[in-house]
Amino acid sequence: MEEVVAKEEQLGEDSGDKLAFPSICSLKLVNLPKLRSFYSGNLTLECPSLSDLWRKNCTNMHTFSSRLLITPKLSNIWADGKTLKVGESKLTLDYYAKTCPKFEQIIQETVTAKQLSNPTTAAATLRVFFHDCMVEGCDASVLISSNSFNKAERDADINESLPGDAFDIVIRAKTALELACPGIVSCADILALSTRNLVKMVGGPYYKVRLGRKDGLVSQASRVEGNLARANMSMSVIIDIFKAKGFTIEEMVALTGGGHTIGFSHCKEFSSRIYNHSKTSETDPGMNPMFAEALRKVCANYQKDTAMSAFNDVMTPSKFDNMYFQNLFRGLGLLASDHALVTDPRTKPIVELFAKDQNAFFQAFAHSMEKVSVVGVKTGRKGEVRNRCDVFNSIKTD
Ligand code: HEM
Repeated sequence: MEEVVAKEEQLGEDSGDKLAFPSICSLKLVNLPKLRSFYSGNLTLECPSLSDLWRKNCTNMHTFSSRLLITPKLSNIWADGKTLKVGESKLTLDYYAKTCPKFEQIIQETVTAKQLSNPTTAAATLRVFFHDCMVEGCDASVLISSNSFNKAERDADINESLPGDAFDIVIRAKTALELACPGIVSCADILALSTRNLVKMVGGPYYKVRLGRKDGLVSQASRVEGNLARANMSMSVIIDIFKAKGFTIEEMVALTGGGHTIGFSHCKEFSSRIYNHSKTSETDPGMNPMFAEALRKVCANYQKDTAMSAFNDVMTPSKFDNMYFQNLFRGLGLLASDHALVTDPRTKPIVELFAKDQNAFFQAFAHSMEKVSVVGVKTGRKGEVRNRCDVFNSIKTD
């Protein structure tokens, strides 16, 4: 069977240009390897009650309906064991194939040039993308600049250290894309694809990025707190923060290791581990003493010179690999939250696995990044394609 409703024997209620199935509430399409679509005729397909849709082992099925599809109640889609939110299910790999065929090429050229001239760009962009997705979803809300009426996400204290290189790469790509295909490509998609390409460029795994995100209409500093982990939080709180966004402990460990195998942290983020740590010890006893001593020298003047910082992965700082996990066992974790991964019994076995097996880490990271990349995405009228990535298209004054 290639389609469920054949064009010639339309089984629904045919009312002119619409084909309606008013009473279907859930639909399971299972083990239909030849199935290409549910319906490929020319009518609009309307399923007003459909809320759940399962698809399993229908490897040839790439579209549900070739024409307009009206499913106002559709909220759950299970595709080959994965649960997709509706917005996410509307994203596609080839979203810009017709409207902006040069999209991928422009991103690739921009990313390559920037990373080669500024090797800190990859870590910068990965962190900014992660911070974007965890607050309001992957909708480029973190790129918005504050104005007199609105303190934007970017100016929340946890975001103050977000590196300029990431914002710069999006501006560069957006400028090139607006010349090639004006008004088509969202800032959220630019950030998502640039991140993937940069991760790959520094040696990390490839993962698929589905496209079609719209840019968000809300960006408020006051909505950031509680969505992002801080280095001094307990492991239970960190786990809960990730869980609230749908991530398992293993996914949290993979993502954190992926984020911290590159890039750097400012001294203030780990100063309590190297100065006046406790009444009995000047430095954190969990930290390798030579490492602690070296950090104390680097950070000696950190309160005045606030730019002072250290690599997150001291052994291979610019290479995306599993060294971060190996480091943790040597007391070379930089942040308290990094070190906690190897002391907490819930995360230690995962760190052991990733330290031993880089493939297992890469697979878990790739899978987790695919998941991060679709958190809270907005499609259709729930967002816009911004003209400039740092301002909404219309100024809000309330
Ligand atoms: C346990 C959860 C996490 C905590 C507590 C945490 C905290 C931090 C802190 C405090 C910094 C230093 C920022 C600075 O001083 O400028 C940092 C850097 C960084 N984080 Fe995380 N992070 C976490 C998870 C993640 C995740 C899941 C990712 C991405 C997938 C990520 C990506 C990065 C990157 C790439 C940097 C380096 C940025 C740069 O070099 O510019 N982090 N993180």
